Amino acid sequence: MTTPPIAVYGANGHTGRFVVRELQRRGYAVVPIGRRSPPSNDQGGDVPEWRVASCDDPDALDRALHGAAALINCAGPFVDTAPALIEAALRAGIHYLDVTAEQRSVRQSLATYDEEARERGTVVLPAMAFYGGLADLLAADVTQRLGLVDSIEIGVALDYWHPTEGTRKTGDRNTARRLVIADGRLVPMPRSLPRRDWIFPEPFGVQEVVAVPLSEIVTIHRHVTASSVSSYMNLAPLRDLGDARTPKPTAVDRSGRSSQRFVMDVHATCGTTTHRITASGGDIYAITAPIVVEACSRVLYDPPVTGGAYAPAELFDTEIYLAALAPHLVVARSTGATEQGERNGNVGPRSVHDSHHGGSEQRCVAARCEWTATPEHAGDS
Ligand SMILES: NC(=O)c1ccc[n+]([C@@H]2O[C@H](COP(=O)([O-])OP(=O)(O)OC[C@H]3O[C@@H](n4cnc5c(N)ncnc54)[C@H](OP(=O)(O)O)[C@@H]3O)[C@@H](O)[C@H]2O)c1
Repeated sequence: MTTPPIAVYGANGHTGRFVVRELQRRGYAVVPIGRRSPPSNDQGGDVPEWRVASCDDPDALDRALHGAAALINCAGPFVDTAPALIEAALRAGIHYLDVTAEQRSVRQSLATYDEEARERGTVVLPAMAFYGGLADLLAADVTQRLGLVDSIEIGVALDYWHPTEGTRKTGDRNTARRLVIADGRLVPMPRSLPRRDWIFPEPFGVQEVVAVPLSEIVTIHRHVTASSVSSYMNLAPLRDLGDARTPKPTAVDRSGRSSQRFVMDVHATCGTTTHRITASGGDIYAITAPIVVEACSRVLYDPPVTGGAYAPAELFDTEIYLAALAPHLVVARSTGATEQGERNGNVGPRSVHDSHHGGSEQRCVAARCEWTATPEHAGDS
């Protein structure tokens, strides 16, 4: 089978390189694009022909996208690149995906381009990355059988964060007050950042966390009915980000991956019961590549009936999608009582975490919900 070429914008960036490699690993031809040619010493090995196009040159973008079946944008800050690149993808009649963590960018992309994408029958899918897409899928997975959810809390723990230049610039460009969901609405988060302790799975254990809501808040708001949704991060990576001396990521293997470990822990509270899904793995930049490439592949080969701008979980079956990431991600699920539930004599935590042996159905009946889950085939590691 010949696979259509996929264009990657920002292909010379840290994340863009992971995405190019992942596409090639999966047998796709790649059209690498950037606003300038990469230094020649970057072009070792099996490197396809590079195309140069700046975001403020629509003709050059049109030429660069010629023949591509989809565009993955890895160039951020996305508030600067996404509008021009989505418009170029729409002109070319091809799907657009990006990896933004920026709330402003994802809001704009979803709101502005839905209608035209519908007319053209193509997909605009922003935030298909570690921040944004992964939390969106986990939140949808843990809540979709519940109906009404009281609250969703997303906790991210990293052992450290050696940021790229793109990460630093993106932080500098996005200084507006971030949004959370309260009373079911997107609202600015409190000025005094909420802090608390969070019990993560090992090896992180108890960590102090602070509110860091990113693009997942905007995407989750489209498809989850929850009174409140907020996101937190532990302090070690934030200290790294705040220190100008923190180095860039260092590769520890031939794939370019760093030794960074992460866990993303999503709690959905329904009455006196908390449902929890946890995804663990390594290197938040590297994991973004299989997340966005899997999405691109699915959009190409199993497109939605209607084009449009979508949040990740509006397009994909979360259980199947998360299972497809299994080599890169270990997913675990559990249910347990809230503190209030424990005081009322509700059950303690019951693990339904990953199983390779099928496993029996687990049932949780909470005050206002009924949830049935089959333990997922979650990974080899
Ligand atoms: N949501 C997530 O979990 C997640 C994960 C990974 C990355 N990201 C985001 O992805 C972006 C890239 O990160 P990175 O780690 O790959 O950074 P990076 O290594 O510094 O690469 C940045 C890339 O963006 C390009 N770029 C920046 N501004 C541009 C503009 N105005 N026009 C055209 N190209 C532009 C750069 O081109 P030049 O080389 O020409 O400067 C480079 O190719 C950041 O915004 C980061 O926050 C998000």
